[in-house]
Amino acid sequence: MPATVFILDFGSQVSQLIARRTRELGVYCEIVPYDVAWTALAQRNPAAIILSGGPESTLVPDAPDVDPQILSSGLPVLGICYGMQLIARRLGAKLVKLDHAEYGPATLTIVEGDSPFLADVPMQSRVWMSHGDSVVELPKGFAALGATPRCNVAAMGDTARKIYGVQFHPEVVHTHAGITMLANFLHGIAGLGDDWKMENFVDTAIAGIRTQVGSDKVICALSGGVDSAVAATLVSRAIGEQLTCIFVDHGLLRKGEAQSVLAAFRDIMHLRVIAVDARERFLKKLAGVEDPEKKRIIIGHEFIAVFEEEAAKIPGVKYLVQGTLYPDVIESKTPDSKAGHKIKSHHNVGGLPEEMEFKLVEPLRALFKDEVRELGRVLGLPEHIVQRQPFPGPGLAVRIIGDITPDRLEIVRNADAIVREEIDGAKGLDPHPWQYFAVLTPVRSVGVMGDGRTYANLVAVRAITSEDGMTADWARLPHELLERISTRIVNEVQGVNRVAYDITSKPPATVEWE
Ligand code: XMP
Repeated sequence: MPATVFILDFGSQVSQLIARRTRELGVYCEIVPYDVAWTALAQRNPAAIILSGGPESTLVPDAPDVDPQILSSGLPVLGICYGMQLIARRLGAKLVKLDHAEYGPATLTIVEGDSPFLADVPMQSRVWMSHGDSVVELPKGFAALGATPRCNVAAMGDTARKIYGVQFHPEVVHTHAGITMLANFLHGIAGLGDDWKMENFVDTAIAGIRTQVGSDKVICALSGGVDSAVAATLVSRAIGEQLTCIFVDHGLLRKGEAQSVLAAFRDIMHLRVIAVDARERFLKKLAGVEDPEKKRIIIGHEFIAVFEEEAAKIPGVKYLVQGTLYPDVIESKTPDSKAGHKIKSHHNVGGLPEEMEFKLVEPLRALFKDEVRELGRVLGLPEHIVQRQPFPGPGLAVRIIGDITPDRLEIVRNADAIVREEIDGAKGLDPHPWQYFAVLTPVRSVGVMGDGRTYANLVAVRAITSEDGMTADWARLPHELLERISTRIVNEVQGVNRVAYDITSKPPATVEWE
């Protein structure tokens, strides 16, 4: 068991971000429920404790509490937000409820410059606050280390006991010196090295998967996306032949994609894959369907039906691998009422209904997307899988506006391949677009080719910059690049005589056209 930082989770939305920053600093950590007993931690080589933030107030009866032995264990402790207030209360300080809770940016001024916790932190820096209570009287042995205009004790510490608290969130990027403070705590105060790597995650995850599934059989739906590919590869490393993957070719993938991902799954990742050619079946169900929501729903249902049929052919399966990531875990906690209006049904192909009678194996639950890509590289996945653009579960069906036919699929596939080739090959795009593709519109327009009149299809090109797909801007691509894309599409893709570039951001548009 490596020297471990235990993060006690009091329910903050950003607890995993603390874990992520700790991993970035090369330190092994685990998130545990806030009420974990000291006796349980003591056996697991604890090196430091971090108490996360949380939505409650320590001033209410039955507020989530920490085992007091953890605070008196002698280990370095850092409390963040709720965690700091809990330390303060537990060690006998006074807190008050603020008249107006403080949320958002504030300027932290250092009041105690010698503290190792604030080494290399500027005298004034921006921090991100989010709290409704405030420490007004320090616990014995503590000094106030920093203050903001509305919070006299924004950071506090007891150097002798190595116990620290911050009222703001050092784990978020808006706290500019946050990573320095965490590094000071982990490396300087707790004396931990910085040699933990993603390779170590692999060992820990493999051991966890083996313990969870024992000798039972496991299945996994592969979509071609990075999450399911990494999850399946990891599980296969752990349990080998006990895992069977199912790849449903719904005929809505991009040019050459079904063959190339399947080859990668089998030859590079050495997964046992059942490939189901369901192209006809999906096309039949989609014939004549123009409504975007109907398309999405048909594809979602059909995918589940095919997967269930295939799964039923393998006797004795108990577990299902899902490539759930941490942001999915957080999003699914958001109640529907808060999520507002439904814009479109996101059918994650590979996302299967909860009522399936399998227990879940979710080895990526703690990771963020870029960590999953890094893990994929460590596992030896090819770059075209690791760097795959986000691609909608319903595939090209939502990039053909109107009826889906084999001919129209061929057009959008060929146009899309040109868009990808040109943008992938363009040097020095800054930023490189996050996602880029072609859309086949239902519009036909008049053109002239050679000396003849044409009346053919309009293809739209969409290229966006984005962080996470939630908001997006259209990419300012060089005109020469757009020209090459347009000329090639019109010359090389039969049935297209006009190309338009989509210059709408999200909102008000969405990334996909349907
Ligand atoms: P929208 O069109 O909603 O897309 O602005 C935002 C991001 O999500 C992708 N997308 C999907 N991903 N299943 C998915 O897994 C879906 O049904 C789906 N629809 C859209 C889209 O490509 C973009 O990256």
